[in-house]
Amino acid sequence: MSGGDKTFFVSPGGTLRGRLRVPGDKSISHRAVMLGALADGETEVTGFLEGEDSLATLRAFQAMGVRIEGPEGGRLRIHGVGVDGLRPPPGPLDLGNSGTSMRLLAGILAAQPFDTELRGDASLSRRPMARVTEPLARMGACIETSAQGTPPLRIHGGRALRGIEYTLPVASAQVKSALLLAGLYAAGQTCVTEPAPTRDHTERMLEAFGYPVARAGRRICVRGGGRLSATAIEVPADLSSAAFFLVGAAMTPGSELLLEQVGVNPTRTGVLAILREMGADLTLENEGRVGGEPVADIRVRGKKLRGVEIPEAQVPLAIDEFPVLFVAAACAEGVTVLRGAAELRVKESDRIQVMAEGLQALGIEARPTAGGMVIRGGRLQGGTVEAHGDHRIAMAFAMAGLRAAAPIEIRDCANVATSFPGFVTLAREAGLDIRETGREI
Ligand code: S3P
Repeated sequence: MSGGDKTFFVSPGGTLRGRLRVPGDKSISHRAVMLGALADGETEVTGFLEGEDSLATLRAFQAMGVRIEGPEGGRLRIHGVGVDGLRPPPGPLDLGNSGTSMRLLAGILAAQPFDTELRGDASLSRRPMARVTEPLARMGACIETSAQGTPPLRIHGGRALRGIEYTLPVASAQVKSALLLAGLYAAGQTCVTEPAPTRDHTERMLEAFGYPVARAGRRICVRGGGRLSATAIEVPADLSSAAFFLVGAAMTPGSELLLEQVGVNPTRTGVLAILREMGADLTLENEGRVGGEPVADIRVRGKKLRGVEIPEAQVPLAIDEFPVLFVAAACAEGVTVLRGAAELRVKESDRIQVMAEGLQALGIEARPTAGGMVIRGGRLQGGTVEAHGDHRIAMAFAMAGLRAAAPIEIRDCANVATSFPGFVTLAREAGLDIRETGREI
């Protein structure tokens, strides 16, 4: 899976209007496959994200002997094999671009009686894995990485794990989840304390599968040796995908969009809080719950935004939305300052550097700092930017077209298919003048 040969062309101007439903939540889709595979009984999933990342997780479990029917129209039927029912895969598991697949699987596979090898594409092969392999080693796991702590991961099975008490050095839901999943197999209790709240889909879904999770403030514990009972999982629309449209509409006067049944878990809604600080007109309607997760329709009306100092407490709650929030800042009146977000440098690309370079290429004063960026709002010009194979960078710059003075060409966009298949079609329907050329991945 290399993202090299797709280019987006966006003509300037337009507004976003209408009602949209974006595809299913990526984080929840991964977890539905993982827990469904390890459960006793049949799990029905609806709204599953048919993107390359969640499909990589699905194929990994198929390779370990789990029968999964679908996906068909977002529907899966997973024939769970039980916590002890996975089979050795015939070869290395290729997880493409997906950090979530690799880090969460590391937790599950550290506890299996067989060896596995986890690989990824060029981007995933550069990403830090010691953050999961080190605490897993403390639990008794044996995982080899490259000398730099990067993939491939060679996981030696047949190790008896023991529970640990662990304080996360970085706010990471992937690390937290890897340890909790390993904790299902460990002797005694595994407890993880987070420095700040991060997405809690693993905890919620474990509970939905009938597995007790003890939560007290920022400390989350599971006791090993339990079983998971199959259940029905309805995956809400992904707020991180909705965010491109939310921001595009919020920063473009004349826009009005309704995004239907989007997941609004409070550990994910930093983008809404930050947009509101910037003066955006957002309302939540028709609020409800699906599969233990809160959902709502989000209505957004475009207006002029203002620059803000982004509160650091919002950073983990908006961690995937900064590429598009930087575009909002570029169109806002005044200066926007982000601090405390060094994690952005180890995502699918270095999102601080790549966004700063792209915004500069479009005539915006954007100064990268070690842990964030300072952006002075101005007039976005046209030009060519590089997405560096990062799906969220590509979609963020696509939205910049709404406020640009001339066409924008965005290179290296094929990985949009990892999280948002159908993005270009949906964006065109909503009113963005975007075309793509090149090969599908
Ligand atoms: C995710 C956690 C976050 C996020 C990623 C998905 C998850 O990563 O950026 O897109 O599903 O647990 P980190 O745990 O590295 O912050």
